[in-house]
Amino acid sequence: MIVRTVDYIKGKVVILDQILLPTEEKYVEIGYPEELAAAIRILRVRGAPAIGVAAAHGVLLALENEILAGRKDAPDHIFDHGSDAAGFDIEGLDGAAIAAKLLETADMFAATRPTAVNLFWALERMRKAIERSGSDIALLAENVSAEAFAIHDGELETDHRIGENGAVLLRDGMTVLTHCNAGGLATAGYGTALAVIKTAHEQGKRISVYACETRPLLQGARLTAWELTRAGIDVTVLCDNAAASLFAAGRIDAVMTGADRIVTNGDLANKIGTLGLAVLCGKYGVPMYIAAPWSTFDLSIEDGSSIPIEERDPGEVKSFAGVKTAPDEARAYNPAFDVTPAGFLTAIITETCVIESPDAKKISAAAGKAGILPA
Ligand code: MRU
Repeated sequence: MIVRTVDYIKGKVVILDQILLPTEEKYVEIGYPEELAAAIRILRVRGAPAIGVAAAHGVLLALENEILAGRKDAPDHIFDHGSDAAGFDIEGLDGAAIAAKLLETADMFAATRPTAVNLFWALERMRKAIERSGSDIALLAENVSAEAFAIHDGELETDHRIGENGAVLLRDGMTVLTHCNAGGLATAGYGTALAVIKTAHEQGKRISVYACETRPLLQGARLTAWELTRAGIDVTVLCDNAAASLFAAGRIDAVMTGADRIVTNGDLANKIGTLGLAVLCGKYGVPMYIAAPWSTFDLSIEDGSSIPIEERDPGEVKSFAGVKTAPDEARAYNPAFDVTPAGFLTAIITETCVIESPDAKKISAAAGKAGILPA
């Protein structure tokens, strides 16, 4: 089951507003890159690969608006994911100035969230598409739209491969615990951790899922449970602090999560709380799996200590559903992610292979085979 998380439709970026889920399924049309950047910051669209796709569409939106600006007889849109670009009047358009504007837009998106490297990976691809077009506006239109749509389309293919590669690890009757949301809502495709679970389910294996609610923003309760129930997969939501008791009772067969950035030695950042689950896996002998595409790898960083960790508004911790839950005078600690050392991992599942007991050597060899690094 594919979730339509974000798309580029007739000159607008359309997102499923994830803040409103599961109460309301509302698609919102976004007409300006600044509005989309704000939507990323407040998690209306979220999840490492999905924010990369959204930002790529955001750069295309800037191009759309530049082309249409001030033209009386312009078509109502230029670009659409799924059909060819409408013809546009090239007369008087300054390709170099528009390219500079697009690069500024890419910088604006790069400043939205610091941890998920997929955002920077997608923006780097968009920057290269802009730069190789020079000041030729027709080429710019062709390259920028093709790149944004290729980033989006690639996600779906990648997610399916991750699902296939990971499903082998899940046996009929297993109970899997997951954290945050690493589903189609987080990738604009099929998901990563949830792609593995969905694929196993489609293969006829009976998989039960425990979804940690994921305070403070409840991506597990609101989004993962929504996605899994729609896919017909058995899901039980738990408070984050109930996880240890399930491990102690021997009721978890595997933990499966996504990641926001995996570095050279296999250390990784994922939603705050992932580290605690990894420690529990170590203590109780439960396999800890991470499902992530190669676009989540940052091989420019050696270990997890250099991953930038987003700190969010303390208000997210000091309130619940709009109601104050802590005195104003109290401070709040609100990191959005934590770092899990590679030593806790059983395997990383990518679209090309499964890397067991990952370390720098195995990751480098797998990256070489995948064409990410020279082999
Ligand atoms: O703050 P969020 O909701 O963007 O955090 C998302 C996560 O931590 C996901 O687990 C991660 O991006 C992997 S998504 C395939």
